[in-house]
This record gives sequence, structure tokens and C-alpha cells, in this order.
Amino acid sequence: MSRVLNEALAALFRARIGPDPIGGEAARVLAAWPTDWAAPPPQGGAPHHASRHLARALAADGPDPDLRRTLQDVAALLPWRYSYPARADGADLAADIAFAELIGPRGWAGSPAIRVGLTLIGPDTYYPLHSHPAVELYAVLSGTAEWTADREVTARPPGAWVLHEPGTPHAMRTGASPLLAVYSWTGDLKSPSIYVE
Ligand SMILES: [Fe+2]
Repeated sequence: MSRVLNEALAALFRARIGPDPIGGEAARVLAAWPTDWAAPPPQGGAPHHASRHLARALAADGPDPDLRRTLQDVAALLPWRYSYPARADGADLAADIAFAELIGPRGWAGSPAIRVGLTLIGPDTYYPLHSHPAVELYAVLSGTAEWTADREVTARPPGAWVLHEPGTPHAMRTGASPLLAVYSWTGDLKSPSIYVE
């Protein structure tokens, strides 16, 4: 099953390769794509609280039906976690925001040049402005959220791609629907994302 997910994710990036900046970044990600995917380790303990939003995100109509079907098949294995330290304002974002790394140190395959995973945000949730030195590419799989980058706010529907250059503060705000998106990182893979508000 991990091989099927590997191919469905790679196909998503392959289809977006092109002459524009997003297409160039998709090509860079694919060039570093790992070929040896291990069987996903079984998830111990209770599933991450935010993963309760996944079924609804995958059930919505949208592009990339093969990838969404494959994610449904491996839903119980996805390694969701919330990776930020506690916020000074006390907001419990871990209840509704989670990330599942699939390629990277915590993923099902390693690569020296990319990290790839899923971002899941529950309905009516604000993922505050954050920043990291890695180049980030997002593909929206489900849910139309308001995406902020460099103070520009844009509604991004399923099928949209978003490129964040290094150090660009960015945020997402969901409405009635959960947001599910694939992310990739290139460049500085080691420095974490940090909140800037
Ligand atoms: Fe980011």
C-alpha cells in the first residue's frame, strides 16, 4: 500500500511540472523523490485528535480522486502530529491542526533533499502566521481556505498550488470545510517552522 501512495503522490507533482516557479519547484521535488518506501509502521496509541477531520476532507468532491482514495485506504496508518511548542496565548491548536510527514526523517521514506507530507486543518480554524527558511510548495486536495502570504489573502480551492519562498510569513484560515493539502519542502530542511504572531 505504501507503494501505491508513493506513486499517487509522485503523480501529483509530476502533473504540475512546468516552466513557471511552481512547475520548477514541482520538478525539484520529484528529482529528489525516494524510490524505496518502507511498509508504514503501525501507529501506536490513540490516533491524533485532529485526524477526526480526515474522513470528511476525503469524502468531499475534488481533484486527484486516486490520491484521495489511496489516503482513505491508509488513513489509520498516517503519522499525524502537531509539531509546534505551546503558544504564549494558550490557543490549543493541536486539537484541530495536524501534519503527517511521509517523506523525511519521520516519514515512510527518507530523502536528503525533500520533505513531503500532509497538512490537515479542521473547520473554522486559524493556523497563525508562521515562517521557515525552506521553500514550500502546497497542493490543495480538499477544502477552500483563505491563505495568507506576505499579507495577501487569497481563497484557494482544491486543485490550487501555493509556493512559499524562504522566510515568507504565511497563514491559513478555514471556513465550514476542513482543509487537506500536500506540502513539500526543499532547501533548509532542518530549521523548523515557527510562529511569527
Ligand atoms: Fe509553511
